[in-house]
Amino acid sequence: MESLRISGGVRLKGEVKVSGAKNAALPIFAATLLTDEPCEIRNVPNLSDINFMADILRNLGAEVEKTGHNTWKICARKISPMAPYDLVRKMRASICLLGPLAGRLRKAQVSMPGGCVIGARPVDLHIKGLRALGCKVEVKGGYICVDARKMKGAQIYLGGRFGSTVTGTANILMAAVAAPGKTVIENAACEPEIADLCKMLSAMGAQISGVGTPTLSVIGVEKLHGATHKILPDRIEAGTWIIAALATRGKVLVKGARKRDLGALLDVLNRANCPVEVRGANEIFVNAENFELKPVEAITMPHPGFPTDLQAQLCALLTQAKGISIVTERIYPERFMHVSELMRMGANIAREGASAIISGKSALSGAPVMASDLRASAALVIAALCAKGETLIGRIYHLDRGYDAMDAKLSALGAKVYREKSE
Ligand code: EPU
Repeated sequence: MESLRISGGVRLKGEVKVSGAKNAALPIFAATLLTDEPCEIRNVPNLSDINFMADILRNLGAEVEKTGHNTWKICARKISPMAPYDLVRKMRASICLLGPLAGRLRKAQVSMPGGCVIGARPVDLHIKGLRALGCKVEVKGGYICVDARKMKGAQIYLGGRFGSTVTGTANILMAAVAAPGKTVIENAACEPEIADLCKMLSAMGAQISGVGTPTLSVIGVEKLHGATHKILPDRIEAGTWIIAALATRGKVLVKGARKRDLGALLDVLNRANCPVEVRGANEIFVNAENFELKPVEAITMPHPGFPTDLQAQLCALLTQAKGISIVTERIYPERFMHVSELMRMGANIAREGASAIISGKSALSGAPVMASDLRASAALVIAALCAKGETLIGRIYHLDRGYDAMDAKLSALGAKVYREKSE
């Protein structure tokens, strides 16, 4: 296993380019199963989750090849409907195979994803959506088994207790594009990654309207064809860099930070008095050498609300604000594993239900800490960068699942970061 050793106290300086979005690339890889023709996907981030997805597609019978640093070719000429537990358990996003397998083969057998450290992550809405499309769905022996022979378009309300579902919307969309008739998905996820998936599906011949809105209408087509698609930049990576620049009082130009995808983060940072300058549609400049970070309240919500995937990083930043900040989780009420690790570094945070009450400013000091999930790991990196002394972050394979070359990008910004083997 590898660890990251970070010597804190360096102001990040320079330019950083955001990679392609993991949460768009994963369902878009799955979407290639909808055609027997080759697809080319560009701007794919180099991540272990992408490699897991490639392995799963190969296991289903697809030819999957990395043809360039960020380009993949996938051809699902002949595939099987069965995604086994051994592969699926490594990555929850493999649930996204259900929709395209049902759409293409009229049959799917995908292992039910197991538990997850960020909280209960049920798939009832995925199943509800498939049933509404006329599929027979059963959970047997740990597998979700779908018989989609009678699948046809339908009106589906896809909201749950926590609002819309991102991968659920992706799944129902990918089934609906190949189902005869008209499907209307109400309370569809509006995340930019879903709009990017719609773009790929449209390039494959799908007929979708309402892209980017909570009501997606789909007219099913008989056959989808091969396509080329460029993945959009990762708004969560962009937000992580913006927050890291602020936390270290740095001066950083973030390239590939799309203003239109980052409205809620920009609003929170504006309220916290942060010197963040939007430059055109795709760049954000942080010049944080002299500013007074103010405490704020932030609540996570489905897009366009504040993203849960930036909640941990925001908590790390707010340890540096003088006063009391309150960060509330409305998507995953238990997603606070970073709190106890941040406290080991000197943060003063109290948990109150689904809220973190952060009293600052805390002088953080380096400590050995443990990464528990992807975004918690990013929060620890941010805390380590502004802490005094050295922090050793264990289990950084979590970071490698979702951040493309984070340590190399950090080094290029002047941070003292070293990757080492650990026991
Ligand atoms: N939910 C249900 N029933 C369902 C599905 C979801 O109750 O059938 C609930 C969830 O428990 C949660 C809420 O609905 O409370 C939203 O979950 P959603 O389905 O939108 O999450 P997801 O699709 O499983 C994606 C991202 C996550 C991100 C969430 C929320 C991918 C591959 N994953 O997960 O990304 O946190 O949306 O935005 O797109 C990450 O990148 O670190 C990550 C965890």
